[in-house]
Amino acid sequence: MTPLSPEQVIEGQRQDWNRVAGGWETWDRFFDEQMAFLNHRLVGDARLRAGLRVLDLGSGTGYPALMTAQTVGPSGSVIGIDLAEQMLEAARRKAASLKFSNVTFRTGDVTTLPFEKASFDAVTTRFCLMFLPEIPKAVAEIARILKPDTWVSTAVWSAPEKNPYLKIPIDVIKQFIELPPPDPSAPGIFRLAKPGDLAGMLQQAGFVDIAEQEFLGDVRFSTADEYFSSLMDIAAPIQNLWAKLSPSQQTEAKQRIIHTAEQYRKGSIIALPIAVRMVACRKPT
Ligand SMILES: C[S@@+](CC[C@H](N)C(=O)[O-])C[C@H]1O[C@@H](n2cnc3c(N)ncnc32)[C@H](O)[C@@H]1O
Repeated sequence: MTPLSPEQVIEGQRQDWNRVAGGWETWDRFFDEQMAFLNHRLVGDARLRAGLRVLDLGSGTGYPALMTAQTVGPSGSVIGIDLAEQMLEAARRKAASLKFSNVTFRTGDVTTLPFEKASFDAVTTRFCLMFLPEIPKAVAEIARILKPDTWVSTAVWSAPEKNPYLKIPIDVIKQFIELPPPDPSAPGIFRLAKPGDLAGMLQQAGFVDIAEQEFLGDVRFSTADEYFSSLMDIAAPIQNLWAKLSPSQQTEAKQRIIHTAEQYRKGSIIALPIAVRMVACRKPT
């Protein structure tokens, strides 16, 4: 199969994430709470403090941009950029309800940042970079728009084996249909899972003090059904695979996903492990 052009990938991403924006808003509060620990980590890794001007890449419905805005305070400012206008509309509603006036959300592509060189004091990004068709190009853009001696903090998914939260439905879908072997260089959930991959690209772009850690955690659900519904509502790439199943296959697959998730029950909750690759670095002086 001919690989998609970068423009086709970007357009597919825009459509995918706009399609699931309603699901993200439905589950917003739940995931904001579940994933808050990652936001704190990103804020720390980027050395954020009051007064900084920060760019958040692929902000979706607003995280970590909103925690970033809280940290830099009224004397600082945050711009969140994302391809998907409908995700950003949800982010804007959330910013308004939290009464944040120091954060704005703009549509745009991370690979061609519409900003002046050396115009930001930090960059944060959570679960975006692995979906880009040209990651080194985006990394060069990050280096361009940052001032000297500033920090970047990133979070991407680590290996599927360490992420039952995402792997369970993919494994079950594979029981019904043959999926092509994953192309390690194709954009997707696990594109930056390999240790050193993103770090190497950052180093190539001239970043220093590169720190990488696989950060382990879990996402907690009260029922396996809640897990299934929430994931299917927000995970655009998994939705795309799910759509390949017939209605009767979907019914059976749902049962199998729920059955597998139950194996992670700890008392009254189901705790599905996640492993997130956190990579931080500094633009040299
Ligand atoms: C999984 S969501 C993550 C959203 C948010 N950062 C979070 O962690 O909740 C991925 C986001 O990356 C955005 N995205 C993907 N490719 C992009 C690109 N080339 N430029 C800007 N945003 C992009 C998508 O539109 C989507 O909102």
